[in-house]
Amino acid sequence: MKNLQMQNVAQGPEKAILVGVEWRGNRIWDLESSIEELLELVDTAGARVVATLLAKIDKPTPTYFIGSGKANELAALTQESGADLIVFDDDLSPAQSRNLEKISKVRVIDRTQIILDIFSRRARTKEAQFQVELAQLRYLLPRLTGQWMHLSRQEGGVGTRGPGETQLEVDRRRAKTRILKLEKELKAITSERETQRKRREKTGVPLVSIMGYTNAGKTTLFNRLTTSRNLAEDRLFATLDATVRKKELEGHRIVLFSDTVGFIRKLPHHLVESFKATLEEVIHSDLLIHVVDISDPLYQEKHAVVLQVLGKLGAESISRMTVLNKIDLLEGPERILRWERGGEKVIPLSAQSGQGVDSLLAGVSEFFKKSFVRMKVFIPHQANDWVSFLYREAHVIKKKYEENGAFLEIEISSHLVSKILPFQIS
Ligand code: GTP
Repeated sequence: MKNLQMQNVAQGPEKAILVGVEWRGNRIWDLESSIEELLELVDTAGARVVATLLAKIDKPTPTYFIGSGKANELAALTQESGADLIVFDDDLSPAQSRNLEKISKVRVIDRTQIILDIFSRRARTKEAQFQVELAQLRYLLPRLTGQWMHLSRQEGGVGTRGPGETQLEVDRRRAKTRILKLEKELKAITSERETQRKRREKTGVPLVSIMGYTNAGKTTLFNRLTTSRNLAEDRLFATLDATVRKKELEGHRIVLFSDTVGFIRKLPHHLVESFKATLEEVIHSDLLIHVVDISDPLYQEKHAVVLQVLGKLGAESISRMTVLNKIDLLEGPERILRWERGGEKVIPLSAQSGQGVDSLLAGVSEFFKKSFVRMKVFIPHQANDWVSFLYREAHVIKKKYEENGAFLEIEISSHLVSKILPFQIS
């Protein structure tokens, strides 16, 4: 064992011990940073960390992950610190967590479960709630191991047990039934979302998604750009449901900005899978704004994680602008210069103070300039509906009413040009 450290034992319903393990050739992030992030996750989930156990081992063992000697030390530390929860930074197999629970006599969970727990507390819409529950059940299913898992809270009761069946089988069956039900419900929601998206795409209003690592400042930037008041919190995953808002850019170009769920290292694959519908906003964006918290010592690693998740979603080819946020916290321009030396064009700003936000808006406006066309049209009175269409979907620069109809000079998304072509006059 490398290090054993006791922190102030805090009062609180759940006292947690964190366990971080380093084994040869495994780590990209150093152990300390990983544990630091786990600490934030546990804190966000509402538990208090009372001790941390860091261990360096050759390779994980099938029984306890950390070997029996270390497992005994962990059990002793649990007693000593009065902890009622152990959280591993790495994913445990069902057998490993069961064995660790036996030896320590407290609940043992891993990073995935903490993330799922945070997601379940944060889910606001029906869709997000279903998605989280589905991910939890998919995670739980292989772990239903003879013990009462309280699935009866969700559906059915004791009376539903068949003769001779073990509780385990009942739980498994209930979990499977619930999974099927959730999948069906989500399918319906997804198809509704798909219809909305198609409707939006038809209007040709482009979608700009703000994405990035959790806590990078996405919601703060979204609020700054669209002057709405979403909850911006110094907590991980404050935003679980994509929020979309209209914004008129310079030159009266309309775009939609979308605030999306934060990415994180080791984003459990159950979640990526279950949240695909929400993350679809990202996949169908015309432009992505990647928010990087440049004041974070791990900004490069987190940037790499976001690119990885984008790859998993199949969104790496979408045009992207990188925003270096929280420049108000920087002591000097070194980090910005280092990034720029890498050849990528970035927009440094502070979403909180607003400094640099105009440059971002100008950049977005410039990006979409290419996709808008200026036209002059004449709409005869008998086709008057087209005038309202243009007022709704395009930017009307000039208008002049004549006896037979209206002359309009417009700027319109290239998607819509073909519709209006019959009325073009020059
Ligand atoms: P999730 O939804 O949890 O993924 O977070 P997010 O990326 O939406 O971050 P959010 O906007 O909630 O901001 C996280 C924290 O960073 C909040 O405490 C913000 O006040 C703070 N923050 C955001 N932008 C800035 C900034 O430019 N400067 C400073 N100093 N703090 C900022």
